[in-house]
Amino acid sequence: MPTVDIEALLRSLALGCGARRILEIGTGHGDATLVLATTLPSDGMMITMEMDAATAGLVRERLGAAGHEHRVSVMVGEATRFLHKIAGPFDLILQDSHPQSYEQMLDRLVELLRPGGLLVMDHVAASGGDETMVTLRHRLAADPRLHTSFLQVGDGVSVSVKRAS
Ligand SMILES: C[S@@+](CC[C@H](N)C(=O)[O-])C[C@H]1O[C@@H](n2cnc3c(N)ncnc32)[C@H](O)[C@@H]1O
Repeated sequence: MPTVDIEALLRSLALGCGARRILEIGTGHGDATLVLATTLPSDGMMITMEMDAATAGLVRERLGAAGHEHRVSVMVGEATRFLHKIAGPFDLILQDSHPQSYEQMLDRLVELLRPGGLLVMDHVAASGGDETMVTLRHRLAADPRLHTSFLQVGDGVSVSVKRAS
């Protein structure tokens, strides 16, 4: 069976849930941003947050070259400063920033997600026995607001569906 990478998984998840509003924490070089932007319908939108201004500038150029600049907003700065200023609901949220920040942002990300929406977290098996990730995985598995699956994709991906309350 061919290996699944995170981009292929994201494309399937976004298309599968019919995502029209997508949020990404941690833009990086924009690989996931570009993939997710291509899944949006014509009236869809995406916000991506990146703390490094130079990196964000390069991604804006990539988005422009691909014709997605009008549908994707790149917010530059510390994501925790922005999360309480934006409004949900989002259909799909990708957490791909610094793993040490995942727990701190978790509650707000769940609030921003629509019931039935997907919260995807990358690197949840990073560093094997890293205590931060162990704690996070236990928290995700026990969270009554979510139904979470852990996938062996890259260094671990969690996919959580927000339950209807
Ligand atoms: C693993 S990379 C993201 C990879 C990207 N999603 C991709 O598919 O190419 C992580 C990025 O998150 C950014 N980052 C880490 N912590 C952040 C935070 N608290 N707020 C905003 N950006 C953050 C880093 O600067 C880095 O560019």
